[in-house]
Order: sequence, then C-alpha cells, then structure tokens
Amino acid sequence: WQVSLQTRPKGSSGPFNHMCGGILLESCWVLTAAHCIESEVEMQVMLGGVDLEKDEIYDQVIRVEKAIVHENYKKTPSALYNDIAMLQLKVMDRPYCAKESRYVKTACLTNQPFNSGTECVVSGWGVTETQKKGTNQLIQAPVLLISQEKCKAPNVYGDVLDDSMFCAGYLRGGPDSCQGDSGGPLVCERNGTHYVVGVVSWGDGCGMKNKPGVYANVGRFVDWITRHLLS
Ligand code: ARG
Repeated sequence: WQVSLQTRPKGSSGPFNHMCGGILLESCWVLTAAHCIESEVEMQVMLGGVDLEKDEIYDQVIRVEKAIVHENYKKTPSALYNDIAMLQLKVMDRPYCAKESRYVKTACLTNQPFNSGTECVVSGWGVTETQKKGTNQLIQAPVLLISQEKCKAPNVYGDVLDDSMFCAGYLRGGPDSCQGDSGGPLVCERNGTHYVVGVVSWGDGCGMKNKPGVYANVGRFVDWITRHLLS
C-alpha cells in the first residue's frame, strides 16, 4: 500500500520526481497529505517498488486523474489542519488501475482507535540522518502512538494540536518520519490486519526530543474517505 507520489511541471516531458508518499486504499484510490498537492504539475504514482531509481519487475506506474483536497485543510505557520487528500488514478484501457500482487496490496481503514503506547510502523523514501536528499530504498521505522494529552503539553506542541492530528514517535527523541515521507502511511496491526491510522503530515525538525512526528488522524476522516470511494 506504500505509494511514491511523483510530479513534474505541467506540459513537461522530463522525468517525474518523488515528492511525497501515499497509501493505496482501492485499485483506483490513493490517500495522501493535502500539503502534497500542488497546482500546475502532472502527477503519477509508483507502486510495488522498493528502489526509486531502478525499474523493478513488480513496479506499477499510474497517472493521477484528479486530486481531492479536504475542504477544511488549513496551513498555518505552526501546524497543518485536516491535512488529507485523495487521488483518483487513471483507468487506462483496463477495468482497474493498480493491480493487486505480492507487492501491491490495499490498506484497511478503521474508526476504532488504537491505544496510546501501541507500536506502529511509518515508512517512506524521506530524509534520514545520513541521506539528506532522501533514500532510494523504501525504509520503515517503529513509532509509538502518543496521547493527545501528552502531545499537547506546552513543551511539546501545546494547543496548536487539534483532533484532526495526533503524534507518534518518541518524546525522548529517536525514530521518526521526515521530509519526503509526507503523505505516507503510519499503520498499526490488529489481529493480523494492517490499518492506516495516520498520514505523515508535519513535525518540528525530525527525531528531536519533545518534537515527535504529527500525523493526520485517519480515524476522524473515515466517513469523508468512504464518501469519495463510493462516489
Ligand atoms: N512535511 C514533511 C513532508 O512534506 C513531513 C515531516 C514529518 N516530520 C516529522 N518530524 N515526522 O515530507
């Protein structure tokens, strides 16, 4: 379900560049962050691959037909609110868009919350300590769900946090998502099923003490998402 969202300037015939992550929900639908959507660009998604630079046999590359940004998405200097968007993929001359395979699966949705302290997984091609331009290889990191109460502490993010988002990571510092991971999945497992619980959204720096990653709270958007999936 991990997707690489790639763009190039509208009308260009040059290469597409990775700019965000995304999450495959259905054959023709990808979930991502609203702040990943730009105007004046062409978008495509790459699925099934691990290495961004190599052609791999399980790669699927599909153009984006349209982007739907949440109507209450708001960007302020301190936070991104309702940072969620859906991408409808282009059906070429087949009855589907992405084809399910060993390496391409859809992620599940749930509005049943997971407890804080649960260990979940975030993944992407974003920046690491050693690779400032992002990694070519998809990597993942464990993160713990952090309660709203703890993350709203004045020395963490205080009152800029609202219920459209939640924190995950480590207050002492450590594994975190970073630039280039935005739009990608934070998934948690329950009874052998992986659920998308968060969409990588923002953070103050990466991996720093008292500044965990902030994720769009997917559980709060399940109705909004299913409305578009059914439309
Ligand atoms: N906004 C970033 C992006 O566009 C994601 C930042 C996540 N930061 C963090 N500390 N977890 O890729």
